[in-house]
Amino acid sequence: MRRSLLGWVLNGEEGVAVRWPDAAVVCEVGPRDGFQMETTWIPTDTKVQILNELGRTGLRCIQATSFVHPRAIPQLRDADEVMARIERVPGVRYTALVPNERGVERAIAARIDGVEMVVSVSDSHCLRNTNMTTEQAMTRARACARLARESGIGMGIGFPVALGCPFEGVPPYDRVEGLVAQAVEEFGFEDVTVADTVGIANPALVFTTLSRLRRRFPQTAFTLHLHNTRGMGLANVLAGLDAGVRRFDGSVAGLGGCPYAPGATGNIATEDLVHMLEEMGVSTEVNLSDLLRVARRVEETVGHADSALLRAGTSRHLLGIRREAQVKRSAW
Ligand code: COA
Ligand code: ZN
Repeated sequence: MRRSLLGWVLNGEEGVAVRWPDAAVVCEVGPRDGFQMETTWIPTDTKVQILNELGRTGLRCIQATSFVHPRAIPQLRDADEVMARIERVPGVRYTALVPNERGVERAIAARIDGVEMVVSVSDSHCLRNTNMTTEQAMTRARACARLARESGIGMGIGFPVALGCPFEGVPPYDRVEGLVAQAVEEFGFEDVTVADTVGIANPALVFTTLSRLRRRFPQTAFTLHLHNTRGMGLANVLAGLDAGVRRFDGSVAGLGGCPYAPGATGNIATEDLVHMLEEMGVSTEVNLSDLLRVARRVEETVGHADSALLRAGTSRHLLGIRREAQVKRSAW
C-alpha cells in the first residue's frame, strides 16, 4: 500500500486508486433526531438505557437530546433528566441540539460537552422550525456562541435544509457559504454540520457543495447529516468522503426526520453507515455487533426501523467469513 502524489492510497494494483481515508468519525444522532419524531412517549428510563448502551459501542460522539421548547418537541421534554442520569462513558462526546440562548443555558447546566446551534438555511423552514427567520436565528447563534465559549463547551452549528428545502428548493451555494462564513469567521463556531433534512440531495450536489466549502474553510471540521428518504443517503456519504468530509451523522435503526418538514423520514442508519465504511477499510472504531444489538432494541422500543442491516445482516455474516478485529485494506 502506498500513497500517490494526490494522497490517494494505491492498493497495489497498478492504476487502481482507492481514494478513501483510513478513518472517519460517526456521530450518533438517533436519541435526538430519531426520538424527536416518535409520537408515542419513550419512557425516560428507556432513553437512558439506550444512551448507555450506545455509549459502550465505541461511538465517539452522541447527540443525546435537544434543549428546545417542550411544546415544539414533546418527546424530548425530559432532556434535563436524561442528561442527569446517563453514564458518561470516557472518550465519548455528548452533544445536544439548541435553538437559542435558553437552550445553551440548559445545556451548560446539564454538563453537555458541546452544543449544536440550529439555523435553517431557508426562511420558510427556519420560521416553521424555530419561529425565526434565518437572519434572526444567526443573531441568536452569535449570542449562543458567546455563551458556549464563556463556559468552555464545544460550539457547533448545524444548517438544516442546506442541501435542499421542501419549500424553497436547493439554496444557492453562495447563501450556504455566506452563512458558514459568518458562523465560522465572525462567531467562532468550530464545527459545521451541513444537513440534507428531507433527503433530496444527490451525490453530485453533495460533492460540489462540500468540495467548495472545504476549499473555502480549510480549518473547519464539516459533518454531513444525511437523510435516506429517497435512497441516496449512503451514495451521498461516498460523495462526501470524496470531497474530503470525515464526519458523518447516523441514526440508530434509521429513525429520524423533522416534524417541520413535510415528507421527512429517517437518517441513514448508523449501522448501515458503519458497515459500509468498515467494509471499505475506513475505520470507525464502532463495534458493529454491539451497535446492531442496540438497533434491534430501538426497533423493539418504537416498533419500526429503516435499516438494511437489520433486514439483511452484514455482508460478512452472509459470506460466513469470520473476521478478526478488522480487515485491513492491505489484506484484500
Ligand atoms: N427550552 C425551553 N423553553 C424555552 C426555550 C428552550 N430552549 N426557548 C424558549 N423557551 C420558552 C421561553 O422561556 C418562553 O417561556 P414562557 O412562555 O414561559 O415565558 C417560551 O418558550 C416562549 O419563548 P420564545 O423565545 O418566544 O419562543 P418561541 O415560542 O418563539 O419558540 C423556539 C422558539 C426556538 C424555542 C421553538 O420554536 C423551538 O424550541 N423549536 C425547536 C424545533 C426543533 O427542535 N426542531 C427539530 C430540530 S431541527
Ligand atoms: Zn435530521
